[in-house]
Formats: sequence, C-alpha cells, structure tokens
Amino acid sequence: MSQIYKRSLLLSNRVAPSAAAALRCKSSWFSEVKMGPPDAILGVTEAFKRDQNPKKMNVGVGAYRDDNTKPFVLPSVREAEKRVLGRGLDKEYAPIIGFPEFYNKAIELALGKDSKRLQAKHNVTTQTISGTGALRVGAAFLSRFWTGCRDVYMPNPTWGNHVPIFEHSGLSVKRYRYYNPASCDLDFSGMIEDLKKAPEGAIVLLHACAHNPTGVDPNVEQWREISKVVKDRKLYPFIDFAYQGFASGDVDRDAQAVRIFEADGHDFCLAQSFAKNMGLYGERAGAFTVVCTDEEEAARVMSQVKIIIRGLYSSPPIHGARIAAEILNSDDLRKQWLVDVKQMADRIIDARCTLRENLKKLGSSRSWEHIVNQIGMFCFTGLKPEQVTKLAKEYSIYMTQDGRISMAGVSSKNVDYLAESIHKVTK
Ligand SMILES: Cc1ncc(COP(=O)(O)O)c(C=O)c1O
Repeated sequence: MSQIYKRSLLLSNRVAPSAAAALRCKSSWFSEVKMGPPDAILGVTEAFKRDQNPKKMNVGVGAYRDDNTKPFVLPSVREAEKRVLGRGLDKEYAPIIGFPEFYNKAIELALGKDSKRLQAKHNVTTQTISGTGALRVGAAFLSRFWTGCRDVYMPNPTWGNHVPIFEHSGLSVKRYRYYNPASCDLDFSGMIEDLKKAPEGAIVLLHACAHNPTGVDPNVEQWREISKVVKDRKLYPFIDFAYQGFASGDVDRDAQAVRIFEADGHDFCLAQSFAKNMGLYGERAGAFTVVCTDEEEAARVMSQVKIIIRGLYSSPPIHGARIAAEILNSDDLRKQWLVDVKQMADRIIDARCTLRENLKKLGSSRSWEHIVNQIGMFCFTGLKPEQVTKLAKEYSIYMTQDGRISMAGVSSKNVDYLAESIHKVTK
C-alpha cells in the first residue's frame, strides 16, 4: 500500500489509533487472511482431469450423466428452450420474487394440486437462485425472525453446503443421528431419540428424498413418526427438496414426506431445486416457500422475504425459470418431462443393480445390498478412506473421501471396471 494512501487514511480519521498502528506493520489490507481449504468435490474433479488413464472414472460430481458419461440435456428442456427463445422475450429484470408462472407451479409440484394450504393461500413462495439460494434465503429469514432456539439440527452426515449456509446466516448447527455405518442404513431409533432430545423451538433440517450423501431415506411409516415427534417436541421443520422425481422416477411418490408434513398441519420452510430433476444445473432455478399459519401471516412474511432477497441479490436469473415454467405450464412438455425424469431415475436404478450383481459375481464376500436399497443420485458405499485413496491411485477412480459414489457417473460401459476395482480393494 502506498505511503500516501496510508497517510490520507490516517488524516481522514477513518482509522482508529490502534488500527492505525497495526496498519503501519502490514503490507496490505488482507495480509492476515489465511488460505482456506479447497472444495472437497472440486478437488476430486481436478485430480480426475490430471489423470491420463483412459479407464479413469469420476464418480465424485453430483450431476447426471448419460450412458456415455456425458452431460445430458433433457428433451423436454431442449423443446421448452426453443419455445421460450421463439417468443423473442426481453432481458428486463425479473420481479424480486421471480416469475409467478414459475414459482406457483413449483410449489404446486411439491405440495400437490389438492393441497389445502395452497388453496387457503398460506404459502409464501418465491423463485430463488436454485436450491442453494432457497436454503440461503430461508436461513436469512429465520436468522432475522425466528423467535425459538437458534440451533439448526441436521442429519449426520448431511450435504456439505448445509453447514456454511446456516452458519453464514448466524444460526448454529447441531446434529441428529441419521446413518448407521454398520448396516449402511438409516439409524432410525438414533434419529428419533436425538429429535426427542432437541430443545423446544429448535429448527430441524430434513432431506425430503434421495438423501445426500447417503442415499438412505426413511420409509413412509418412518416419516409419519418423524412428523409426529417434530410436532410433539415443537420443532420447526425446514425441508430440503432438491431431488423431486430423481429418487423413484415419480414426482408424487418422492413428495410423500413433504405432503405428510403438510397433512399433519406443520408450518414449515421448503427449499426446491430444478437443477437435478430438469438438469438445469447452471441455470439456477429454484424456489423457497414458507407455509404460514394463515393468509394474513403469509402477507407479512412475504413482505420481509422480499426485503431479504432485495438485499442479497435483488432479483433472480430469468432464463432457467422461463424454461421450467414452460415445461410446468404446457401439457405436452410436462408429460415429456415426467418421462425424462423417469428415464434418468431408471438408469441410475439399473446401474445400482448391475454394480451389486457384478460384485456378487466376482465373489465378493461382503453384502452389497445397500447399493440397491439406497436411492437417488448417491451411494454411500461404506468404503474406508484408505480404500478410496487406493481406488484413485491404482485404478483412477475418483470419489469423495467419505466413500460416496455418484451413481450418475456409472454407465453400462464402466460398471464392470468399477466393480472389479472395488472388489480388489475390499478383498
Ligand atoms: C441436499 C441438497 N440440497 C440442495 C442442493 C442445491 O443444489 P442447487 O443449488 O444446485 O440447486 C443440493 C445439490 O447438490 C443437494 O444435494
């Protein structure tokens, strides 16, 4: 920093005497900023890119790939985009809360056409910058207005970004048991026990379906019990719904948990993403909803949500929401989209079956049933960190250190190699 600049700062009295002394010893404003750790998933991709092995596999990234392991643009999305572009629309700003043709259809997709709360206009729904943006707007809203306990209870483990999203908003993160590594399945009794111990008025984050990173979801009966405990303990549900349709291939079936919570009379927050189920990753189309007690409360909440969004990013991006709205509002495209979603989910389910079968055929003495019992994009394999490292070093197969495989990166062409390699490191 130049001496003149330093002196002018001191003269203008903008720096307190102690800060001024500290400033004299520093070479720049940010000399004390420490290097942060690299993003775990980007690190996997970087290592994959550097690898020259023609058999290399990237099963780290949570984005769908076709059977040639190439990014997939849904036919319904291609057609919707053509129709949107054909209208020659302008590029003006969207309203603060986005396009009603998009967000009204988004929440209807989650809660269902017959939703009583929608009919009673209890919902505050806004377009957001995909699912991450929906979570961030919700966290900011709760941080400012939640009068209960400021702890957010999250499953252990959870999607890595949940923690910073809520912490950056000034809320504190706590955990409830979720995954049982011994059975590679849900630790349902541990989950219920922990929720029963959570303080009244705490916020509880739930993955509606296709839990990331474990692929382990509660069944319908278990969801009913979770809903009852959340109600009895007076906890506040924040439901993250990033994979509607992607788990089972059926958008209504995947919405069961959300609809159970609605039917049980909870007020709750909901974050939706169209990144996975429409393949609109980079378009950032999502929605945030607060289901309120009544219409009057909803009007007040909406006014504050708008103020929060205005201060965070002013208004959402327009293109992805136009594509999603085009699909959700036209009968033919919606029909095509439901076929596309099912096709993606089915390919993943097939890849799970083939991987499990291959491991069996190779004579693995382990049980790999969890590969087919888990659901959605991810499989929590149960591989240990040293086995994950060996797979990367010796077989050029890259995944996150927790042993999570993105099943979207597994195809009919590489599944044999994956099974053989897993078998070799787990013998
Ligand atoms: C559980 C979960 N929630 C939310 C998101 C948000 O994704 P996006 O911001 O791309 O919509 C993701 C993405 O991987 C996720 O796995």
